[in-house]
Amino acid sequence: MTTRIMDPAARVLADPQAFTDEQHLYGALAHLRKHAPVSWVEVDEYRPFWAITKHADIMDIERQNDLFTNFPRPLLAIAEADDALLRDLEAGTGLRTLIHMDDPHHRDVRKIGADWFKPSALKMLKARCDELAKIWVDKMAEKGPELDFMTEIAVNYPLYVILTLLGLPESDFPRMLKLTQEMFGGNDEEFQRGGDVEDMLAVLMDFFNYFSALTQSRREHPTDDLSSAIANAKINGEPLSDMDTLSYYVITASAGHDTTSAAIAGGLRALLDHPDQLTRLQNDMSLMGTAVEEMIRWVVPVKEFMRTAQEDTEVRGVKIAKGEAVYLAYTSGNRDEDVFTDPEKFDVGRDPNKHLSFGYGVHFCLGASLARMELNSFFTELIPRIKSIELAGEPELMATTFVGGLKHLPIRVELK
Ligand code: HEM
Repeated sequence: MTTRIMDPAARVLADPQAFTDEQHLYGALAHLRKHAPVSWVEVDEYRPFWAITKHADIMDIERQNDLFTNFPRPLLAIAEADDALLRDLEAGTGLRTLIHMDDPHHRDVRKIGADWFKPSALKMLKARCDELAKIWVDKMAEKGPELDFMTEIAVNYPLYVILTLLGLPESDFPRMLKLTQEMFGGNDEEFQRGGDVEDMLAVLMDFFNYFSALTQSRREHPTDDLSSAIANAKINGEPLSDMDTLSYYVITASAGHDTTSAAIAGGLRALLDHPDQLTRLQNDMSLMGTAVEEMIRWVVPVKEFMRTAQEDTEVRGVKIAKGEAVYLAYTSGNRDEDVFTDPEKFDVGRDPNKHLSFGYGVHFCLGASLARMELNSFFTELIPRIKSIELAGEPELMATTFVGGLKHLPIRVELK
């Protein structure tokens, strides 16, 4: 029997606080890629898992979606939450979104919303994105010269876009904002409703109540939006179960929001930390496409997903037993020296840029084109209007092991 490599550096992955200290985090990941790219991790409260830190291994695992499944452990959670999820999935009583599913059911369910994220549908949303970008950049000017870019701008703009796509009224936006933050800010005290599983379930119940009413109304009066497509979807002639319907709303409203907010705020911070790259972009706006891609690589708004081996297998020569979980460290894959030239350099002209921020394979982010479009609209509006911009305090990162980035980004800005 081979011994498992257990490199203590991998413990950072199960420590929400570690994600608030990027220098330390990225140092630990570089160490792992070099010395223990497939490391066994045992941390109190969590079930053990394999930390996968090389870009090629993450892609290999995601490509083999029959061997490495999302069920029963799609992401890192404490053992108690893993147990609750499994119980609910088996009883059909809990949230079951695309990330909890495997093919063939996953494929059928994904198809329901897929048309709304295709380039032809997004073209229609582009004008609205541009309009919203202008509204929120104007607000920067109004609120300035000093403001917290994260809480005052970045959390709002993507929410307005995704709720427009769902066809929800603007009067409901503040409620959705609070709910998505409570759901995804789960590790950070500033956003938590409370700390335990019951509080999390209460947040879910609020989501469910809101979207149950929406389903009812869209079934009675269908409209031309993503909500109606979800409410009236059928698979093999059968409507989606209530739970699958509600879960679809939750995944779009939540996955489409905090991820993009984190990318926009983190992207702006990267430009402020690298003034030469900001100047380069200001002088050549044709770099916007590669700049947006680089912001998304740099920020890694989704830190990880997990898969579970369905058979005994191997990764990079390390034996993985059936039933063991692998943690896909996108944070590490995006800085892999074997794939990226100067990975620690923020380069708005980086091309190619095969980052893993949107994952890979059959679960590849459904909203990737939308997210790119949102960043593109926002920075295309903002950059030419900047007269001056600088940090006005220390940026603060959110404690999370899953989704997030900046919690606060104080800036001083003067706009045209
Ligand atoms: C920069 C912003 C975003 C990032 C970094 C991001 C990242 C990700 C990642 C890493 C995954 C899992 C991929 C995998 O398992 O291989 C994912 C899945 C998903 N994302 Fe995004 N996302 C972003 C924006 C969005 C937006 C705007 C939406 C719109 C609703 C969205 C909807 C989804 C959905 C529905 C899934 C589940 C797909 C599936 O399991 O088949 N995401 N995203």
